Amino acid sequence: MPVASERDVIRSELRWGFITAGAVGVIFIAILSAALGLQINPPSNVEFADPKTLHLSGEFTEANLGTQVQGDTIAVRMIASQFAFLPRCVVEPRGRPVTLRLVSPDVIHGILVTGTNVNTMVVPGYVSQVHTTFTRTGDLLMPCHEFCGMGHSQMWASVRVVEPDAFKPDAQGRVACAQP
Ligand code: CUA
Repeated sequence: MPVASERDVIRSELRWGFITAGAVGVIFIAILSAALGLQINPPSNVEFADPKTLHLSGEFTEANLGTQVQGDTIAVRMIASQFAFLPRCVVEPRGRPVTLRLVSPDVIHGILVTGTNVNTMVVPGYVSQVHTTFTRTGDLLMPCHEFCGMGHSQMWASVRVVEPDAFKPDAQGRVACAQP
């Protein structure tokens, strides 16, 4: 077997070095373009929320749940618990940035909103936050997508996306689904 010369070894190492750097570069560009161009990001928000006291005080008491316009931002607060979302329906305007904030008082749940980029876990102890802009109107299904117990398949909510001029907050900036 011929012995590789020092030169051949260096050449081979350099070649593999370039191939590796190229592959890393391609992956890096793919991650950057997904994040900046397509708004595909891992959930990066780390905020704590004590599951034992969620309902007693602070942001996630019953009176604060649902959709609320706060200046330029539209916040939606929901509780995901075995086996329902509270509230079961939220109203959002089409074409405006919305921030969804969810917490769980019991076990791990997960949400997605059909046909949108909203998809996150809801882990007890943390606030799950997702920014999105809904681009089409209608009732979008928001199922729990993490097995959370016997009632998991019964656990869903709906996101009612309406035209901006049909989105009418009250004096407190609240908007709720009409009661059936
Ligand atoms: Cu909650 Cu599955």
